[in-house]
Parts: sequence; C-alpha cells; structure tokens
Amino acid sequence: MNDRNGPVVGILPAAGRGVRLGEPLPKAFVELDGRTMLDRSVEAMFASAVVDRVVIVAPPELAATPAARLVGEAFADRVSVVAGGAERADSVRAGLSAASGARFVLVHDAARALTPADLFVRVVDALRAGSDAVIPVLPVVDTVKSVDAEGAVTGTPDRSTLRAVQTPQGFDVALLERANRDAADATDDAGLVERSGQRVTTVAGDPLAFKITTPLDLVLARAVLASGVRTEKEM
Ligand code: CTP
Ligand code: MG
Repeated sequence: MNDRNGPVVGILPAAGRGVRLGEPLPKAFVELDGRTMLDRSVEAMFASAVVDRVVIVAPPELAATPAARLVGEAFADRVSVVAGGAERADSVRAGLSAASGARFVLVHDAARALTPADLFVRVVDALRAGSDAVIPVLPVVDTVKSVDAEGAVTGTPDRSTLRAVQTPQGFDVALLERANRDAADATDDAGLVERSGQRVTTVAGDPLAFKITTPLDLVLARAVLASGVRTEKEM
C-alpha cells in the first residue's frame, strides 16, 4: 500500500476576531452574498473532493454550536468544531488535536473565503506525489524593500526570487505537529516547518485565494461575487 494514500483532514482556523476588518462579528461569520466566509470555505474544501473531513476552529464562545448550524447540512456529518486559542498557532494546535487519523492536513484560513476548489487539489496532489510540506504562492507584483527600525531602506531583494504565500498549506501531519508544538505565533504554518529545517515546496496559488483582511478586501470579495467570476472552477 502506498503510504501517501491516507486521509486528508482540513483544519480551518476561524477563531480570529477580525480586528482589522472592523465588523461587529468575528470575521469568519461575516456574510458574503448571504453566506458566511466559514460556510463558503468548508464548501470549497469538500467541492475539491480531496478532503475527507474538516475541523473548524471557532471562537471559544461558538465552539459548542452544532456543525449543522455553522455549515451547509450536506457537510455537517464530516465536520467537527473545536475552540480556538489566543494566537493563530494556538488555534492550529487545537485543530491538530482534533485531526486524529489524518495522514495529511490542509491548514486553510477561513478568511480566504473565495479560494477555488482546484487549489486544494493542487496542494493534495503535491503531498501525494511526495512533498511533506506544500504552500501555494503567487509572484510578487510590487517591489519589496527591507527597512531598519527607523524605516530607512536597507535593501531591495530581487523580486524574481520572492513569492506571496497563501493557504491551503498542506503537511504531513506528524511534521506539522512537531513544528507547531513550541510555536509562540506564526502567520504562516510553513514558516514553523522551515525553522525545523524541513524542505517546503510550492504550487501555483490563485488570485481568488486572497485573504479578506481589511474593509477594502471585503468590497473586493463582494464585487467578485457580484461580477459572476467563477470561484468554483469546473473539476
Ligand atoms: N485565526 C484563528 N485564531 C486566532 C487568530 C486567527 O483561528 N487566534 C484565524 C482567523 O480566523 C483567520 C486566519 O486565522 O481565518 C487568518 O488570520 P487573520 O486574517 O489575521 O484573521 P483575524 O486574526 O481574525 O484578523 P485580525 O488580525 O485583523 O484581528
Ligand atoms: Mg490576526
């Protein structure tokens, strides 16, 4: 038996407050065209047909909510809900503890609510083909500078070597558990894996997998939906 054929569990960190978005609800519960970001993210994961189960990491006060009230009825029996922690890495740790039986995990921000299903497929294909840590990336469009504490420029990295990082990030489950164990905080799970000296590979990201962080991002997400651009590509 191929050891890379085992189950894939999606971990959906959705426990953030969305301070930068500034809406009254925790961000994952903000609606886009009548459906929450959380519900849209879960649907995209299952639409990919490469995810067996999903663990939603919810704000603690919502963690006792039955899955069927958080996501579409059709998915509820494949979804569990756990309470998140103070920092994103704490929430990922809580999700990992509920991902028993997983061979691979896909950690995916609920805030990337328009992520097309085929991006999950690309990441899982890379895991099945032999990678233990895989991240979707896009070329960087702006020139990027490094600066010192006063804001004075210290360097201009060659843009052709830089990539902007998205989710879903895919991992061998034991590798992410080890890397996450001592993490204080990380905006990017792969960063923890890199620090442990492991090789992290990349697949092509998708502009629709942008993270909804600020009010401008919310305007963009709603405009994308209103425009009829396909967020679910034909599988
Ligand atoms: N997240 C989480 N637990 C935390 C912090 C963040 O599960 N303690 C999740 C968020 O719900 C989001 C993803 O991690 O889906 C990416 O984080 P971010 O975009 O920073 O969301 P928030 O932390 O909610 O936003 P802000 O930083 O503006 O408060
Ligand atoms: Mg945050």
